[in-house]
Amino acid sequence: MSGNRNGSMFDSGQGGIPASPGRSSSHPSQGPSPASPGRSSVALVTGATAGIGAAFAAQLAREGSDLVLVARTEARLTQQAAEMQQRYGIAVETIPADLSTDSGLRRVEQRVTDRSAPVDLLINNAGFGLQADFLDSDISEEEGMLAVNVRAVMRLTHAALPGMIERGSGGILNVSSVAGSVPTATGATYAASKAWVTSFTESLSMLLADKGVQLTVLCPGFTRTDFHDRVGVSRGGVPERLWLDAADVAATGLRDHRRGAVISIPGIQYKVSVIGSRLVPRSLLRWVSTRVTAAT
Ligand SMILES: NC(=O)c1ccc[n+]([C@@H]2O[C@H](COP(=O)([O-])OP(=O)(O)OC[C@H]3O[C@@H](n4cnc5c(N)ncnc54)[C@H](OP(=O)(O)O)[C@@H]3O)[C@@H](O)[C@H]2O)c1
Repeated sequence: MSGNRNGSMFDSGQGGIPASPGRSSSHPSQGPSPASPGRSSVALVTGATAGIGAAFAAQLAREGSDLVLVARTEARLTQQAAEMQQRYGIAVETIPADLSTDSGLRRVEQRVTDRSAPVDLLINNAGFGLQADFLDSDISEEEGMLAVNVRAVMRLTHAALPGMIERGSGGILNVSSVAGSVPTATGATYAASKAWVTSFTESLSMLLADKGVQLTVLCPGFTRTDFHDRVGVSRGGVPERLWLDAADVAATGLRDHRRGAVISIPGIQYKVSVIGSRLVPRSLLRWVSTRVTAAT
């Protein structure tokens, strides 16, 4: 797609913004979220069969974490689970679920709230953008996008937190986008949905600072995944230097999460953009955004 579609001019990592000084992290610097002694740690990844979600699943599997994989397409889930079980000797569960639906959400909520098999790390990664601008889009598609990008993140976070707080350990990593930090004429709902994910995670992290539960929001820019093909737009207009690798993005997110960062922005180019965007007037930001969008 041209970078102005699907979601934004900034959809695609190194380094994050550290938590406030003195903020404690419930995670060690290496390995998945801690589980009780004698029990493997369990991570649930939504949108696990492709792109950034698949990269999260692959890294966690290599590290020996058991996995719960969520996506809509059962055949891809089954194949991925079999490969990971065989290659890494981990336990892999799959939950075919459409997170835009109540029934799909309920299936995943049930797993997240199962106290007999606690989920130590919840990665709310599933999300998508739309090709059409708001003025031309189908309102049911806009609502479907909000359901996955916002409502599912809120519902699964709400379901996971009580158990984590009770155990005094665990973490939630929500995948947002740098698109949530800047105004964008195209992909307005996508950008707003990602602004919600960033604000929600940052605000909630303040409530959880002393409860042993780590919340992190990962804000990638343009990343090579199926995302842009699904939206049906070309990647051609986006300069090569802006593209990130999905494995690098996932690795940065996990590393920042484990070191207690609340906001993780992969890629120096995007870190500079996001920090710069906070320093300039919004009118200037809209002017720049309009021109970058036109050029991509
Ligand atoms: N790629 C980028 O440039 C970029 C940049 C910034 C942020 N992001 C964010 O990163 C996250 C992952 O994006 P990606 O680029 O890795 O996307 P992707 O390659 O398109 O993969 C999307 C994954 O989500 C699943 N999924 C899609 N809709 C779903 C639904 N309704 N219910 C359950 N699962 C669903 C897909 O599997 P099924 O189709 O089988 O369900 C697939 O596993 C998204 O939140 C996206 O907004 C991406």
